[in-house]
Order: sequence, then C-alpha cells, then structure tokens
Amino acid sequence: MGKDVIVACDFAGAEQVFAFLDKFEGVERKPFVKIGMELFYGAGPDIVREIKARGHKIFLDLKLHDIPNTVKKAMSVLSGLDVDITNLHAGGTVRMMEAAIEGLTRPDGTRPLLIAVTQLTSTDQEAMENDLLIKEPIDKVVMHYAANARKAGLDGVVCSPLEAGKVHDTCGADFLTITPGVRFADGDIGDQKRVMTPAEAKKIGSDYIVVGRPITAAEDPVAAYRRCVAEFCD
Ligand code: C5P
Repeated sequence: MGKDVIVACDFAGAEQVFAFLDKFEGVERKPFVKIGMELFYGAGPDIVREIKARGHKIFLDLKLHDIPNTVKKAMSVLSGLDVDITNLHAGGTVRMMEAAIEGLTRPDGTRPLLIAVTQLTSTDQEAMENDLLIKEPIDKVVMHYAANARKAGLDGVVCSPLEAGKVHDTCGADFLTITPGVRFADGDIGDQKRVMTPAEAKKIGSDYIVVGRPITAAEDPVAAYRRCVAEFCD
C-alpha cells in the first residue's frame, strides 16, 4: 500500500458516520477510514462490514493488549472482518505481538497490516517513571518498543510525525509510520500539542497520516479531504 490519508471517523454512532461518508459519494478516491473503540464498541462489528461494503479501506484502531493466547484469538476474529490495518500495544511484549501475527494470518497466508502503539502520547516522562516505573528516556523507550515490533514481524508503528524519521532510521525505511496530529497550516490545533501539516508529514517520511477533525469538522469535508490528499499523496 502506498501513502494514504486515513480519516478518523470519531463519531458516536452509525447514523453520524454514514451521514458523513455519504458526502463522499462519487468522489474520485474513497477515504481510508479509521474506526476507533468508541464507534466499534457502540455500533458493533457490523459497522466494519457496512463501511467495508461501501468500498472503504479500514484501519480498526482497538489497541489490543492481553495475554498472547487471548490476543491471538481476538486477532483471528478481526482478520475475519477483513480490515486492512489493525493494531495493538507493543507493551504487551514480543511474545504477545508474535501471537497476534499468528492469529491475524488467514489460512491463505494473507493478513491485515499490524501496527504497534509504543507509548501513548498521553503518557509523558513523569507518568512513565512514576506510574510504570520505567526510568529510561521516553524517546529511547519508544524506539525500543518500535524495534520490538519489528522483531515480532509487525509492519509499523503509530507515532507522532516528529518521530517518523527516527523510526525509519531505527527500524528501516519499509517499516510503516502512521502519524496522527496533523493540521492545516491555517487551521485550529485543538487539543493536539505537537502537530504537522500534511505536506510536512510527507516531507519527513510518514507513510500514512490520520486526520480527524480537520476533515470531519470542516465546513466542506470533501474539500478538506482533497486538500490533505493533494498535500500528502500527490
Ligand atoms: O481529530 P484529530 O485529527 O486530532 O484526530 C486524530 C485521531 O488520531 C484520533 O482518532 C485520535 O484518537 C488518534 N490519535 C492521536 N494521537 C495518538 C494516537 C491516536 O491523535 N498518539
């Protein structure tokens, strides 16, 4: 898969998502859609099947983290939903990530891409040291988790656009970086702290950008989506 813009469909229910996706009827490129926990837990697995049936690629962002056997079985279920990308927490250990790959791999050998979350951006150095008793610098921890994900056979990590270059240096150019925290140069930052424009994210080597409110809350979501594609993909 090449560079793409993934639209974070952070809506409360199916009705709102479909009203949003309806706006893209007839648009030359179907948005890649991210479905997160809120929508998945609220609307159930049918929401994945329905969005897939409309021809969208899907990143199912459920961030699994459990014992290897449970993650393996859960991944097998997600693989059956025919998503294109899904994810887990690298903190679950290399063995858990290897089990996830096993579960995700279909009988014909194909599988969705599997991406790791390293340390959440909501976790800072202080919380990591005090709550998790991890004393190393956070960027070292992030790169170590990314390297573990690579070792386990995963395809990439979710990271801030600012970390994408270093992840590629550490794990290889073909190790995917999926980066949220994207804003237009003339847009609202909202609650994101470290942001980049789609053009900057392209320049520093992000493979996919995840864009929510700059598209979903735009007056003209299709125009905002096209602008992201033009800046990032073309
Ligand atoms: O609306 P906005 O563009 O900020 O949405 C970004 C999306 O990426 C949201 O779904 C958010 O949960 C997700 N995300 C993030 N930062 C991370 C990981 C995921 O913003 N570190």
